[in-house]
Amino acid sequence: MDYLPIFTKLENRPCLVIGGGDIALRKVHLLLKAGADVTVCALQFHPKLQQKSEAGQIKIITGSFTESLLDNKWLVIAATNKKVVNREIASAADKRQLLVNVVDDPLLSSFIMPSIVDRSPIIVAISSGGKAPVLARLIRERLEALLPMHIGRLATISGEFRHRVKNVIKNVSLRRRYWEKLFGNGQLGTLLQKGQTEKALTLMEQSLSEEIAQGDVALVGAGPGDPSLLTLKALQLMQQADVVLYDRLVSSEILDLVRRDADLISVGKEAGNHEVGQSRTNKMLVEYALQGKKVVRLKGGDSFIFGRGGEELEELVEAGVAFQVVPGITAASGCSAYAGIPLTHRDYAQSVTFVTGHRKENGQQLDWQALASKNQTLVVYMGLIQSQEIQTQLLHFGRGADTPVALINKGTSADQHVVIGTLSELTQLGGGLKGPTLMIIGEVVSLANKLAWYNPENSHKLSRDPFLVNLA
Ligand SMILES: C[S@@+](CC[C@H](N)C(=O)[O-])C[C@H]1O[C@@H](n2cnc3c(N)ncnc32)[C@H](O)[C@@H]1O
Repeated sequence: MDYLPIFTKLENRPCLVIGGGDIALRKVHLLLKAGADVTVCALQFHPKLQQKSEAGQIKIITGSFTESLLDNKWLVIAATNKKVVNREIASAADKRQLLVNVVDDPLLSSFIMPSIVDRSPIIVAISSGGKAPVLARLIRERLEALLPMHIGRLATISGEFRHRVKNVIKNVSLRRRYWEKLFGNGQLGTLLQKGQTEKALTLMEQSLSEEIAQGDVALVGAGPGDPSLLTLKALQLMQQADVVLYDRLVSSEILDLVRRDADLISVGKEAGNHEVGQSRTNKMLVEYALQGKKVVRLKGGDSFIFGRGGEELEELVEAGVAFQVVPGITAASGCSAYAGIPLTHRDYAQSVTFVTGHRKENGQQLDWQALASKNQTLVVYMGLIQSQEIQTQLLHFGRGADTPVALINKGTSADQHVVIGTLSELTQLGGGLKGPTLMIIGEVVSLANKLAWYNPENSHKLSRDPFLVNLA
């Protein structure tokens, strides 16, 4: 970071502008908006600067710059059209350790003035540190369009209402939740847009009295590994959470995106090796929600596909805890896409079946006869340790020994590894693979030779910022 963005309070603080033209006028205008006590020194003054002086808004000094003008000033702006003078001002200010901005000359400046989107009291400042002013301008234009005019009014009345909310809702996280809910309420924005401030205040009062001190749970699918495959909603909830209970399959890059102050609790599960048992996890979800917390239950892939999401929700229903479900990209979709294997194809597979290799003891047997049919793709989750049985059953029910098979290990991650072979080789293919592995069986696998596109090393270095990608 070349510059530290700060917002300075200039109300009634003496500031000096040297120069009397258009540019000086613009800077004076901004300083006055911030309530500064402005003195302008120049040989000649723009008529609007004269007017401001006559109206008592600024002081003007007719003459050349002298160092004594810097006495008792908080900051200085050099806006003359003479480089030599600007340099002299910058060096004099530097000597006194006084913040100085030389217009259009970042090298001489100890502070720069960013582009701003002004929805006072909300101010967004954008700077490229003088490196890409056009990009900064484009970003500003985007933000101008994005932030409705009434957002400033919303911030102002929220400020006035803050103490009241603080008195009524003592718990910090509940208070945050109240504000999040309120700002997410489109009705409030509509009222302010129409200038109906009184009605907006009534709405704020109403929602305050309706606020019930109860938390909720969001069951969120985190996708197969690559953080850029998270949904926007998942990201939003992760950034609002008080507590996040996550599984072993959720990558550390994804956990890095969780709100910094949230409690992160691993309830990691591996087939047969449960760090925190399922029933304990279910209970923790209920307990945290009843404490009024916003709980995110983060699971690999999609929670409703071999994720036991349904069981956790049943427990929440029983305890009367509010919840929502955010789908994630399941391993079958993520891994097949990143391995270049379309799960269906008009020539090779008219259907696709997802099965799990890991079933409850004494659980139902799979219908191997149906699974061995041709023209379909079989995706097996947690299938690696069952390779022998899968091979035996499929061959027994008539699937060809030369049917292509893919094992995708740590799919979509920077460590993705794909092994391709045939059904007759299945039991040897997975030797040495550690970590989550997905099995895809069917003719579509042969397309990977042609369609594989993902290079783990390069792809994870691509910009993940959708906003910037859109601008490009
Ligand atoms: C308990 S299941 C959870 C599936 C998850 N709910 C989903 O929708 O992807 C775990 C199995 O999913 C598969 N899996 C999940 N993520 C994977 C990944 N990134 N690469 C390969 N297989 C994965 C593996 O077969 C793993 O053993």
